[in-house]
Amino acid sequence: MLFEEFDYFSYQFPEPQYLGAKHTILSWIGKFIPQNISVVLDAFAGSQSVSFLFKQLGFQTITNDFLCFNGKIGEALIENKTYKLDNNDLYLLFQSATNKNDFTLMEDIFTNIFFEREESIFLDNFRANIPLLQNKYKQALAFTVINRSITRKITMGHFAHRQALTYAGNPERIKRNRSLIRPIKDIFEDLLPKYNNAVFDNKRENISFNHNILDILPLLSSIDLVYFDPPYCDSHADYQSFYHLLETYTEYWRNKKFINGTKRYFPLRYSGFDKKRDAIASLKKLFEMSENIPYWLISYNNRSYPCIEEFEQIITKYRNVKIEMKTYRNGRGGKGSVAGSKEILFICSPKKKFFISKNNQPHANNEKLQLLGQPLQK
Ligand SMILES: C[S@@+](CC[C@H](N)C(=O)[O-])C[C@H]1O[C@@H](n2cnc3c(N)ncnc32)[C@H](O)[C@@H]1O
Repeated sequence: MLFEEFDYFSYQFPEPQYLGAKHTILSWIGKFIPQNISVVLDAFAGSQSVSFLFKQLGFQTITNDFLCFNGKIGEALIENKTYKLDNNDLYLLFQSATNKNDFTLMEDIFTNIFFEREESIFLDNFRANIPLLQNKYKQALAFTVINRSITRKITMGHFAHRQALTYAGNPERIKRNRSLIRPIKDIFEDLLPKYNNAVFDNKRENISFNHNILDILPLLSSIDLVYFDPPYCDSHADYQSFYHLLETYTEYWRNKKFINGTKRYFPLRYSGFDKKRDAIASLKKLFEMSENIPYWLISYNNRSYPCIEEFEQIITKYRNVKIEMKTYRNGRGGKGSVAGSKEILFICSPKKKFFISKNNQPHANNEKLQLLGQPLQK
């Protein structure tokens, strides 16, 4: 176990199923976190696995991902200190919704694509009831657990293919993954205790944001360490194709088109990091905007674009860099999740001396964030 002086390691991060999630290599990443820091930013947080480690380590943790469903995990497990879902909440969530006629998106768009009609109706009804929960933390927890339950039900855990219903009729597949034929409600009830038990207070004011990092970074201050884990550009970078259903369900889009066989929403959010044509310019912007953050840790992969040497060259303009490497023996956990691929960590330290803050103030300018024109997710 890492850093045994903290009690928070008795809390367990519920295992995610998310491309590039770092839950299997947290102790390796943890070895390279500098001493004497207090405030950290997880800029591309995804499943929130690294933010959870930061929270366990007692840091004030600011987490961000541009996808709304990931932002909800951040609210539920990083920002949330105490709220869990109890039996009264389950009653509210599972009851027949009074406004169910306004909630038919899953039934209308995804029946016979990912779900049987009955399951789609269950999801619509559950979604209609989420706002009845007492506060945004309970609501975020409900989103987190239902989205995880939906992912369990879909073979391979992503929505860029549409085999789940076919596999649900195949005894061999069912033997390997019983969730294929289990009602989502059962899966939800099974998973909930794991998520409830992962809620804790590390006595810091942690914040979960849901913005493009390039919009939010200039508005954050007094951060000691930033962790960057951008998409694996050139392969498996298209998070919106893989997880579109979770985003659609969480946002409950009423103003998008749903296109192609998988009914992915259109238009997409702009990332800046998932297409070759934007990647280098966006990375440069990212690093320029991070000038005032002394320490940077950057996860990377030897199959990403730009290549490691070019990436290192870009960073050395701003920071001293050391490179650490870990080889995946199996396909689990790492970005690209390919056996034999190498997980890279750029450990970046300042060229000049920095003063590290020891205060406990909020580290975001909320007025400026409101001006971004997006609903503020904190
Ligand atoms: C490699 S994954 C991060 C995995 C994460 N470290 C974990 O352990 O789960 C990259 C993440 O970047 C997010 N992302 C892509 N473009 C972004 C942007 N411009 N701003 C913020 N997040 C972005 C994606 O939604 C995705 O979750």
